[in-house]
Amino acid sequence: MAWVSVISFAVACFVSSAAGASFQVQVGENATLTFDPLTITAAVGDTVTYNFHPKVEPPNFKLSQTLIDHARTILSHNLLSKTRAIPLLGDLTAASPTTWTITINDTKPVWVYCGQTTGNHCQNGMVHAINAPTTGNTIDAFKAAAKSASTSSSPPGGLPIGGLRKTSVQVGPGGNLTYSPNNITALVGEVIEFAFNPKNHSVVQSSFQDPCHPLAAGGFSSGFLPTAVSPSGATFQIVINDTKPVWFYCAQTAKNHCQSGMVGSVNAPTSGNTLEAFIGLAAKASGSTIEPNAPLGGILTVNGTVVTADIGNVFDPSNTSSTNTNTTVSNVPPPGSSIPPNVASMAGGYQPSSYNWAPSISDTATELLELINFLDNVLLEVLVNGHNNLTTGGWSHLYPDTITGTIGSMMAQALVHRATATDSLSHYSKKLNGLCSYSFPISGAEDFVHVALTLTLLEVALFLDVISVVSASDPWLIGPISSTLGSKSRMAGMVNMMQNHIPAAAPREVMLPAPLVYSYVLNHYIVPNSCPDPLPYTSIPPLTVTSAPVSGTQRLTSVTVTFDASSKNLSMAWVGPWGTVEYTPVTVTSNTQGTASVPGDLSGHVWGVLVNSTGASAQDLPTITVAGPELVWVTQP
Ligand SMILES: *[C@@H]1O[C@H](CO)[C@@H](O)[C@H](O)[C@H]1NC(C)=O
Ligand SMILES: *[C@@H]1O[C@H](CO)[C@@H](O)[C@H](O)[C@H]1NC(C)=O
Ligand SMILES: *[C@@H]1O[C@H](CO)[C@@H](O)[C@H](O)[C@H]1NC(C)=O
Ligand SMILES: *[C@@H]1O[C@H](CO)[C@@H](O)[C@H](O)[C@H]1NC(C)=O
Ligand SMILES: *[C@@H]1O[C@H](CO)[C@@H](O)[C@H](O)[C@H]1NC(C)=O
Ligand SMILES: *[C@@H]1O[C@H](CO)[C@@H](O)[C@H](O)[C@H]1NC(C)=O
Ligand SMILES: *[C@@H]1O[C@H](CO)[C@@H](O)[C@H](O)[C@H]1NC(C)=O
Ligand SMILES: *[C@@H]1O[C@H](CO)[C@@H](O)[C@H](O)[C@H]1NC(C)=O
Ligand SMILES: *[C@@H]1O[C@H](CO)[C@@H](O)[C@H](O)[C@H]1NC(C)=O
Ligand SMILES: *[C@@H]1O[C@H](CO)[C@@H](O)[C@H](O)[C@H]1NC(C)=O
Ligand SMILES: *[C@@H]1O[C@H](CO)[C@@H](O)[C@H](O)[C@H]1NC(C)=O
Ligand SMILES: *[C@@H]1O[C@H](CO)[C@@H](O)[C@H](O)[C@H]1NC(C)=O
Repeated sequence: MAWVSVISFAVACFVSSAAGASFQVQVGENATLTFDPLTITAAVGDTVTYNFHPKVEPPNFKLSQTLIDHARTILSHNLLSKTRAIPLLGDLTAASPTTWTITINDTKPVWVYCGQTTGNHCQNGMVHAINAPTTGNTIDAFKAAAKSASTSSSPPGGLPIGGLRKTSVQVGPGGNLTYSPNNITALVGEVIEFAFNPKNHSVVQSSFQDPCHPLAAGGFSSGFLPTAVSPSGATFQIVINDTKPVWFYCAQTAKNHCQSGMVGSVNAPTSGNTLEAFIGLAAKASGSTIEPNAPLGGILTVNGTVVTADIGNVFDPSNTSSTNTNTTVSNVPPPGSSIPPNVASMAGGYQPSSYNWAPSISDTATELLELINFLDNVLLEVLVNGHNNLTTGGWSHLYPDTITGTIGSMMAQALVHRATATDSLSHYSKKLNGLCSYSFPISGAEDFVHVALTLTLLEVALFLDVISVVSASDPWLIGPISSTLGSKSRMAGMVNMMQNHIPAAAPREVMLPAPLVYSYVLNHYIVPNSCPDPLPYTSIPPLTVTSAPVSGTQRLTSVTVTFDASSKNLSMAWVGPWGTVEYTPVTVTSNTQGTASVPGDLSGHVWGVLVNSTGASAQDLPTITVAGPELVWVTQP
């Protein structure tokens, strides 16, 4: 039962892939110059872990398919390019918590030696092999070759390559309020694995100056892992990315774990900001705090099952104190609001502090940024409310938790990306686009998916237009808009796969001019005259497109369009990817309706626009548009 609270904040994400056998090799056990066992027969996918014992330095690994006849030459001449190595650990006084694990990729022999020159470990027989032949190039022949090899050498750089170097840290061993070890020296690329013991501990990153409190942004946190079971099977892994010191603490407030010295460091300096100094600061620190979400910045695993954060509702729908009554759920942060750290971690990062702004901005770019702000407000409204519905609302079991979690991450990303427009508008002292009243044609999750897809495709459409329009006048915008374009394109792909029809390989990235994007959103999602900041685009009437249902891979061949009887000579413009526009004539069938064929070379989602002339480029469509645009699914090729 002790695990209940772990599971309650966590969502089991996936089970580790089919694991091969794992072999353990003792290196220098009982102060012998040996690998035990001397040889291993391993299959593809198996792992071999080397455990290092006192007084013997760890080996360098020669992973080579080269025949043993060459071993001597390789050992003396060819180490630099061919050797996989871990650096020396120094003299050990106890079995090292640091291990080295390699994965067997094929069944060719792997030859291993200890590179310690003091005492000539290799020449004295400290060698080892995986899948050595039993005749010809045997382990005995390798040992004999090693005996007469020249002085051992190791590859330069000394960083772990070709395998996993891992240091295990016990969290609260024996009921003690400690990490063991707490004073870790680790190499770049090394994994630190925290193993949880009984009680209710955590591992959270802090700065040196402010122990017992999380970093302002970007730190790791395991969250609390209450357990009464030993071994608990719960581990939290972080990766050491650089040589800077890393400081961590247990955030448990009952008995003040951090203040009592339950802290640790990786690569702490030996003078100045030492671990001792950090322990001293922690003793005087105020009450411990922890990020609301976990795990962050590392991988939490419980007996082989990776656990991801239940990222929940960062915009709490139960918050009735919100002053924004214009929105349906009223928890969408207003444009220009700062992004809370938990939202940034959900999104995977903050916006930059500067977008390489030019000294001034053109009026066209200002208008387009206001339109992006307007559109982002709409997208956020849908994602936030849709995510609420998917997590706590009536749709909470419709999609796997991983999908729901991804929608939550998209929502946070959409918030970060709206800041591209709002930060830039604020930078140039332009007004931000306030929230309107929204009305979405959503009565079920399928509708939500369709609206979210339509909006992300509209964003993609608009960004392509923005890039082409402002590339000469405001080139600094190309970088930021390209980033948000990529983000929205990924979202469209994700949402597309949630739909209940044959999955298109990918939604198409189709350019639409800004006035068409604005009209679509006004016509479909905005309560009339509810926007505090209307934009200066001429509004275009909505287009109704109906079509016979298509099933399977059957292609949509024609559509029925509904239009104003006063204009009789109309065409459909089909706006596809790669900036293409194709035209098909509308055949009038009544005073208010006509039919148009769908060009045979289109696939996936395309935009249909009713026009009174043909031949215009996609960019010039507003000059001939009578109604539209409308999104039409024409199926795969
Ligand atoms: C070390 O000693 C233990 C206990 O005698 C024994 O089980 C183990 O096999 C020894 N290892 C080696 C490599 O000699
Ligand atoms: C297995 O392949 C990985 C990736 O290429 C490589 O890093 C590793 O060294 C290989 N393992 C062995 C034993 O050769
Ligand atoms: C717990 O702390 C006590 C007292 O310092 C020590 O003797 C013991 O070895 C520690 N237990 C573990 C498992 O580290
Ligand atoms: C673990 O500790 C945290 C923080 O003090 C607390 O919120 C949580 O309820 C505890 N869990 C259990 C099962 O004791
Ligand atoms: C993980 O495995 C250990 C050892 O088998 C067991 O004691 C523990 O209960 C397991 N934990 C969970 C959450 O299943
Ligand atoms: C941490 O290790 C360094 C040497 O690596 C040593 O100087 C220092 O005293 C150690 N600190 C603690 C608290 O063990
Ligand atoms: C290393 O980088 C990854 C990815 O940015 C991050 O999640 C992790 O927390 C970093 N590790 C440390 C110790 O900062
Ligand atoms: C509720 O919303 C208001 C206004 O948006 C905000 O200031 C406040 O922090 C929110 N409260 C909580 C508990 O989220
Ligand atoms: C949330 O669900 C309700 C019905 O349960 C629906 O009316 C509303 O439109 C949904 N909102 C979104 C954004 O999906
Ligand atoms: C809500 O809409 C009204 C106009 O309908 C507008 O004046 C007001 O500023 C809007 N509020 C917010 C928070 O956007
Ligand atoms: C109808 O429109 C087409 C395409 O724009 C044009 O070629 C044709 O001349 C027009 N016909 C009439 C009667 O206006
Ligand atoms: C065609 O549509 C455009 C844009 O709506 C309009 O300005 C123009 O007058 C129309 N032309 C004709 C011949 O109806």
